[in-house]
Amino acid sequence: MVFEETHHPIRHFLDLRDISKQDLRLMIDTARSVKTAFKNGETHETLSGKIMGMIFEKRSTRTRISFEVGMRDLGGYSIYMNEDQIQIGRGESISDTAKVLSRYMDVIMIRANKHESLLGLAEHGHIPVINGLTDRSHPCQIMADILTYEEHRGSVSGRTFTWVGDGNNVATSLIEAAAQFDFNLNLSCPKELQPSSEAIAWARENGATIELIDNPKEAVKNVDAVFADCWVSMGDKDADFRHKVLAPFQVNAELMALAKPDALFMHCLPAHRGEEVTAEVIDGPQSVVFDEAENRLHAQKAIILYCFKQI
Ligand code: CP
Ligand code: NVA
Repeated sequence: MVFEETHHPIRHFLDLRDISKQDLRLMIDTARSVKTAFKNGETHETLSGKIMGMIFEKRSTRTRISFEVGMRDLGGYSIYMNEDQIQIGRGESISDTAKVLSRYMDVIMIRANKHESLLGLAEHGHIPVINGLTDRSHPCQIMADILTYEEHRGSVSGRTFTWVGDGNNVATSLIEAAAQFDFNLNLSCPKELQPSSEAIAWARENGATIELIDNPKEAVKNVDAVFADCWVSMGDKDADFRHKVLAPFQVNAELMALAKPDALFMHCLPAHRGEEVTAEVIDGPQSVVFDEAENRLHAQKAIILYCFKQI
């Protein structure tokens, strides 16, 4: 690692709306080719000596492990930082943390309680920052989901997908993806847990067709994929209320039967069988949830290569 001021713009991966359509498509294409190379046992250690710092203010299985494995596959190295073990946990500012970590490493991934922490790292550091989930969004997940859908069914362009349940962080990234990848999106969420109106307005201004359809049965009619997520996200404190208002939004076989016969069921995991989705659906033939999890690795390798300007 060499500390160097750069006069070239830093390539962050903060939110899907910040990146051009062309660059997002390039990342999906790269993800597909790095996956093929990986399956053929080829190694491309183009990040030899590079270090990723990974800050986790919340738990993770997929994000942590897929980033660690991805950095290692690319020849680099990663350092896991849990907020209880670094000074952020006892109040050191994000701006000071950003300035210090920028002098040790080459890229930072953060899973943050507050989206502002992600933005603060990007503003005050001088290395690329990757969003590994915040209270606002989860763009790495949706990149893996686009890759997964296209592996199974071809281009997402012109398709119609439905998000059923809590209008949460994953939903926000899916809304932004609708504009960036040209698919139509139905959102079926309880009135108390509507998705970000600001993200919907942005996606519509950028050409996406987004429909808000209260009744999940109406919302999934003839669609190409149905997306669900947990009812209680990390940091949510109102679990009882959420279970109550989200109960009518369970994805079960009866609901899936209203989508196209070849519709996919998608979920970022972790899942709660019997809550947002029945075991019959998530463990059934239309479900691609483990392909989504696998594709986190390949999509994120492409994201890392983008941040290092290697694509
Ligand atoms: N889908 C996802 O981000 O999983 P983790 O919380 O396990 O990282
Ligand atoms: N919406 C969930 C996603 C977990 C990957 C959460 O924020 O907890």
